[in-house]
Amino acid sequence: MDVVLATLNANQPAALETLKSLLRIPSVSAISAHKPDVRHAAEFVLNHLASSGLTTELVETAGHPIVYAEWLKAANAPTVLIYGHYDVQPPDPLDKWVTPAFEPTVRDGCIWARGATDDKGQMLTHVLSVAAWLKSTGKLPINVKFVIEGEEEVGSENLDKFLNERKEQLRSDAAVVSDTSQYAPGIPAITYGLRGILACEVRVHGPRQDLHSGLFGGAVTNPANALARLIGSLHDSQGRVQIPGFYDDVQALTESERSGFAALPFNSDGFYASVGVKAGWGEADFTAIERSWARPTCDVNGMTSGYQGEGPKTIIPSWASAKITCRLVPNQDAHKLAISLKEFLTANCPPGCCVEFIEQHGCPGFVADTSSPFMAAAKAAIKSAFGTEPALIRSGGSIPVVATLKQILDIDTLLLGWGQTTDNLHSPNEHFSIADFHKGTLASACLWQEIANRACL
Ligand code: BES
Ligand code: MN
Repeated sequence: MDVVLATLNANQPAALETLKSLLRIPSVSAISAHKPDVRHAAEFVLNHLASSGLTTELVETAGHPIVYAEWLKAANAPTVLIYGHYDVQPPDPLDKWVTPAFEPTVRDGCIWARGATDDKGQMLTHVLSVAAWLKSTGKLPINVKFVIEGEEEVGSENLDKFLNERKEQLRSDAAVVSDTSQYAPGIPAITYGLRGILACEVRVHGPRQDLHSGLFGGAVTNPANALARLIGSLHDSQGRVQIPGFYDDVQALTESERSGFAALPFNSDGFYASVGVKAGWGEADFTAIERSWARPTCDVNGMTSGYQGEGPKTIIPSWASAKITCRLVPNQDAHKLAISLKEFLTANCPPGCCVEFIEQHGCPGFVADTSSPFMAAAKAAIKSAFGTEPALIRSGGSIPVVATLKQILDIDTLLLGWGQTTDNLHSPNEHFSIADFHKGTLASACLWQEIANRACL
């Protein structure tokens, strides 16, 4: 073990260069013009795993390729599936970046670029730790199977087919994913729950084409007004979602979870100030942590209608559209909710307009067993690399593969986040602490040994 840690310590500058090279590749999965870049990033990760001594395969899908790599020479030892993603969110708005999104720069102890924390930097910690084990000892204490995909940021739509088709080949005792965050600086965390998601688009169609608002305004339903009303009716004044049946399947928080959350250090003024607002909002009777980690939501992500160019233009727009996502908690079903949401919007749409509903993607929420030996191994590994016991937390984000791994391979996922919630993931000026990049790599190296020690099977 010591020789592995020494190798990683000596390799720190080279590790940062590897991360920088990967960050220079603009692998934006949502934008079709970036398709060749997305493939380039896949090949970069594949080549790194191959030259580290793993058997690799670039698996083609209907969308972006999946990088598969394995090392299976630890007889009678557990097998861990390591998942990550090499795709990134679009870098917009570009003018808000201090240094360009795909020109990684070191500043204030952090590396700044799109994907620095989500998920290229975090994913690489496991690639680097496995490489260091093989380089310094010629072996690993456990078996590993890497699945690094390129469609996480667009809903992992082609991953299920791969997981189903390769079910036998992928069989493992647990999964490890570093694509979440620590609780706060100096408080590393294991995330034992994630929210699921339903993503959809609602279009309200009105007159055949835009109309003069003086000649027709007041006598024809305005689709923008109608959509605003529909969106307004999604919540009551207490912040509760009004879609019929929305809370029916929600798994309630237990008292012990509520007290666990309440025991975490949390400064609500600081929390709101960190995002530039003076007050919070949300479902009555729940704390900010409960609202964002373990209660379902319904949020508009974007609205479009009518004239948006310079100066005024007096029209009744022909249509209006909103992109909506609901975050789900365990036991809620995305497709079932899509049907209720569509019915709610259709039933409440005023005459003179009609609703078109497009269901985009969805995945269920997840809560892991916190008493497993894998959890104990992760706690010990984090303690030795970060010097602190990790907090047990949930998170409001979604990682679709986690529920699928449970469903198809019947394994739990250890969510070991090395980033911070303030790393600006999905926002301008994304960054990742170089110290945490290194500590995460050390924790990963320790984890393989801790899992072997416990013979987690
Ligand atoms: N890494 C994030 C999710 C995340 C971040 C979870 C921090 C917990 C803490 C991931 O890449 C992500 O953003 N996922 C999408 C999934 C969606 C497109 C299906 C999300 O949550 O919006
Ligand atoms: Mn991610």
